[in-house]
Amino acid sequence: MRVTAILLAAGQGTRMKSSLPKVLHPIAGKPMIWHALEAIKQSTTEKPVVVVGHGAEAVTKYLGDSAQSVLQEPQLGTGHAVMQAESLLKGKTDLVVVCYSDMPLLRGETLQALVETQKNNNGPISMLTVHSDHPRGFGRVIRNADGTVSAIVEEYVATPEQLQVKELNVGGYCFDANWLWGALSRIPKNHKKGEYYLTDTVELASKDGLAVHATVMDDLEETIGVNTRVHLSECDVAMRRRINHQHMLNGVTIVDPASTYIEVGVTIGADTVIMPNTYIHGKTLIGEGNVIGPNSIIRDSKIGNRCKVLASVMDGAVLENDVDMGPFARLRKGAHLGNHVHMGNFGEVKDSHLADGVKMGHFSYIGNAQIGVNTNIGAGTITCNYDGEKKHATEIGADVFIGSDTMLVAPIKIGDGARTGAGSVVTKNVAEDTLVVGMPARAIKKLERKTK
Ligand code: UD1
Ligand code: MG
Repeated sequence: MRVTAILLAAGQGTRMKSSLPKVLHPIAGKPMIWHALEAIKQSTTEKPVVVVGHGAEAVTKYLGDSAQSVLQEPQLGTGHAVMQAESLLKGKTDLVVVCYSDMPLLRGETLQALVETQKNNNGPISMLTVHSDHPRGFGRVIRNADGTVSAIVEEYVATPEQLQVKELNVGGYCFDANWLWGALSRIPKNHKKGEYYLTDTVELASKDGLAVHATVMDDLEETIGVNTRVHLSECDVAMRRRINHQHMLNGVTIVDPASTYIEVGVTIGADTVIMPNTYIHGKTLIGEGNVIGPNSIIRDSKIGNRCKVLASVMDGAVLENDVDMGPFARLRKGAHLGNHVHMGNFGEVKDSHLADGVKMGHFSYIGNAQIGVNTNIGAGTITCNYDGEKKHATEIGADVFIGSDTMLVAPIKIGDGARTGAGSVVTKNVAEDTLVVGMPARAIKKLERKTK
């Protein structure tokens, strides 16, 4: 059976007060609409259709080929939005799932249950509802004596009695496609707002004597819709809690979930401990038995097993096993630390490989460098990799001892087993097993100043 989702995303999201379209605001590191598309995947068989309007260009660009998009212009209500998808889908699907793209917490399993309900429904509509004492402006669900739904009444037109109804319309529906296409043209124009409400299809079905089934959800949190930045933060907190729970169930210790920010798509192995105030972003892969944090920020990085990352920042970097890093270390793009590397406080590494056993205890900058096994980088060592125009490489061999405060003026090579004295400024290659010292600065030529 072909099942296709229509995701409504054309609304303005006025209350966000943002130049960014509402559905592109991130929750746990991914745009809201990403979460909606993920949830849809599990219950549908075809590529989804996203109805775009406000911010259409940005939303369509974000979607790429993950969905077909169709423009709704002007925006005349949720029923009118679904009408825009009709010509794309007519005859090409048996069931249509409709949901709103500003409900990032709605789970795939919930939509799956909804589709199952509709597969067993002789009538044309199944929908999601929830019981709550806090209506949050949701439409009220009116039931017939036999338990089927007779209508959805929007809050602003509801009678005082209807306002007392605790069963609310969540905003997730599964329709029999053929019936839906016929019903859309029968939706009456709402007189107060001049809009066409998708929710009015429920009353149309009921009046035709056809059954509308409702699946009552028990997790109220899943139904949070985002209309303001207050809701955005509520959803973000809830999503983070959900992500943290999953990691904890997988064997990760999270000491303080409330101050641990792990984005969607991060993998963490068992027996790793995440200490408070730690941020793990993007495509990050962390192995087993590590201690990360407190106070660490890790993005798009890979960490092996049994590493310690204390109060440090990693971005696009790789740690092998048993690396001990921090506090206050910074790894930038292309930094790669081998097994048992020790990197102490106030070091920075970029586009460099530190082979197994390298020690770099204090205050160093290593850029565009290859460092051999068991080499010691003394405090304050700098690879002077930039001449003002180009970056140059530094190659340091194995078992080298670089003395404190050495300046290595690249391009340069230091042979295996060599040593540099404290404060050396090294401008020429150093042969194996050789000691170099000194080289104070002296004027060698007059420069021509370039103004940029
Ligand atoms: C809607 C439901 C209400 C339900 C609530 C749950 C209707 C008429 N009412 O109300 O019963 O309880 O959601 O959150 O459907 N959209 C378009 N084009 C439009 C109008 C809206 O694409 O012309 C999109 C919006 O971007 C949004 C979604 O449809 O993603 C819902 O629209 P919104 O205006 O938020 O409807 P509610 O008033 O919240
Ligand atoms: Mg809404």
